[in-house]
Amino acid sequence: MSKTVLVVGANRGLGLQFALQYCKMNFNVYGTYRKESVDEAKELLGSEAKTFVLDLADEASIQAASESFGDQPLDILINCAAAGNGSDKWIDATVDEFMTKFRVSAVGPYLTTKAFYPQLKRSTSPLVVNISSNAGSISGNEKGGNLSYRTAKAALNMITVDLARELEPDNIALIALSPGWVKTKMTKYTGHMETDEAVTRMIKVIDGITANDTATFHHRDGYMHTW
Ligand SMILES: NC(=O)c1ccc[n+]([C@@H]2O[C@H](COP(=O)([O-])OP(=O)(O)OC[C@H]3O[C@@H](n4cnc5c(N)ncnc54)[C@H](OP(=O)(O)O)[C@@H]3O)[C@@H](O)[C@H]2O)c1
Repeated sequence: MSKTVLVVGANRGLGLQFALQYCKMNFNVYGTYRKESVDEAKELLGSEAKTFVLDLADEASIQAASESFGDQPLDILINCAAAGNGSDKWIDATVDEFMTKFRVSAVGPYLTTKAFYPQLKRSTSPLVVNISSNAGSISGNEKGGNLSYRTAKAALNMITVDLARELEPDNIALIALSPGWVKTKMTKYTGHMETDEAVTRMIKVIDGITANDTATFHHRDGYMHTW
């Protein structure tokens, strides 16, 4: 039987590529988008993926998505969506900016994992992949900058490890995965790599993950990331 994958934030960028590539691999694919981004969801909506609306800033919409998904087992949950970059300089970061990044990019994946916990438990090898960033690595922060985004990704890393520990009895593995610098709207299409190549590499990493790898941080190119 084909595996089921759910990609949160699949209307564009890396999330869209995850959905398209898993469709090609004959997975049973679900992808989410936000109501207000329906225009940027055309490719997803025209693909073989099943879709539903999900806004990470709205807990009710996360719960509704879980109800639409139903009782079937969920094998891979990819928490890909995140709020984009914030102020470049620390002195310009605002409370609103911190709160939005934290809510969407850290609490959002936590709430999604919680909402899909029953379906994850029904899989024989459930895996949650939190798309993190080099920017979320505390030991790797050598230059500073983009403080609110970094802070939210560091929080997401902690959520990954904490849930990995707490969900061990359920055999649910969680990893953090950094895509590297990729050409998407978030990076204003700068970056070293196109989304298709970056996602092909991330899928290769995901393919190699077992329950023993829970609570680890990986780079797209297959090496372990420092926290
Ligand atoms: N590109 C890079 O170089 C890079 C590097 C490190 C990490 N990452 C991470 O990779 C992931 C994907 O980003 P990307 O590069 O593909 O950027 P992107 O094209 O800007 O995609 C961001 C996605 O997040 C969604 N999103 C934002 N706020 C949301 C909310 N409240 N609820 C639900 N979805 C929301 C966006 O949907 P809307 O269209 O509705 O806004 C969009 O689908 C992110 O976690 C990002 O932090 C990217």
